[in-house]
Amino acid sequence: MDSIAYVNGSFVPLSDAKVSVLDRGFLFADGIYEVSAVLDGKLVDNASHLARLERSVGEIKLKLPETVERITELQKELIARNKLANGLVYLQVTRGADTARDFPFPKGEVKPTLVMFTSEKDIINAASAKTGINVITVPDIRWERRDIKSVALLAQVLAKQAAAEAGAGEAWMLEDGLVTEGGSSSAFILTQNDVIVTRQNSNAILPGCTRKAVLALAAERQLRIEERAFTVTEALAAKEAFITSASSFVQPVVAIDGKQVGSGKPGPMATRLREIYVEFAKATGV
Ligand code: PDD
Repeated sequence: MDSIAYVNGSFVPLSDAKVSVLDRGFLFADGIYEVSAVLDGKLVDNASHLARLERSVGEIKLKLPETVERITELQKELIARNKLANGLVYLQVTRGADTARDFPFPKGEVKPTLVMFTSEKDIINAASAKTGINVITVPDIRWERRDIKSVALLAQVLAKQAAAEAGAGEAWMLEDGLVTEGGSSSAFILTQNDVIVTRQNSNAILPGCTRKAVLALAAERQLRIEERAFTVTEALAAKEAFITSASSFVQPVVAIDGKQVGSGKPGPMATRLREIYVEFAKATGV
């Protein structure tokens, strides 16, 4: 059965959810997106995602067509209409559809496009959380404003396709010999002296909401953290490696480019942080 999507003010079956071919999201990737997890029917860390949405749209001079409060209501209604227990809510806002393809912003009153849909995903019981994932490395060929959650994802499509073809679960992108982040996740290592290392926020990476929450939860537990870039050589010499994202929470990385990391099995830190995050997600869901 078709799930229900939201398109510019209406709830419609997903197969009827359509936008114009002149939509600037379609023509220019002139839009922003967010992905929030749903656990037991509740949105996980959603205020953080919507705060990032507001920041991203501000950076591209796009005004949200609805308030954040209204967007939250719409997300909740979509979850209810789809009876979604566990999965993801995808949200995209674009600069709308003008009357012609023209690069500068529309001159007239063009309403931004707002669409949302859901997908089912049992993130908590994902088999890969128990086995860990392999990652491959690829050059980071993206633009210089990766802090903006733009829908221009071709570099990540190619990176993640290369990972899929190599039988890996994620691609870590490299720039100047350093790991920036995963194709759709933040990258972490645990050093031999038990320091959690993840790249500092800057224009070079997306400020991950799960990254932020995991770092806060780790800090509350007096775990040692360093926000700095690391190399693949350092990751291969680390005790553990892992990724974080709304769609995977915390996932152990057990090999990079076919070379084992640590014991080659999910390590205790990644496992513990995953448990702590799931506890947080359950306790704070709305
Ligand atoms: N991706 N880095 C990149 C490049 C991402 O695309 C994502 C999320 C993250 C993790 O951010 P967060 O913890 O806020 O999900 C980091 C989403 C899940 C996606 O594109 O599907």
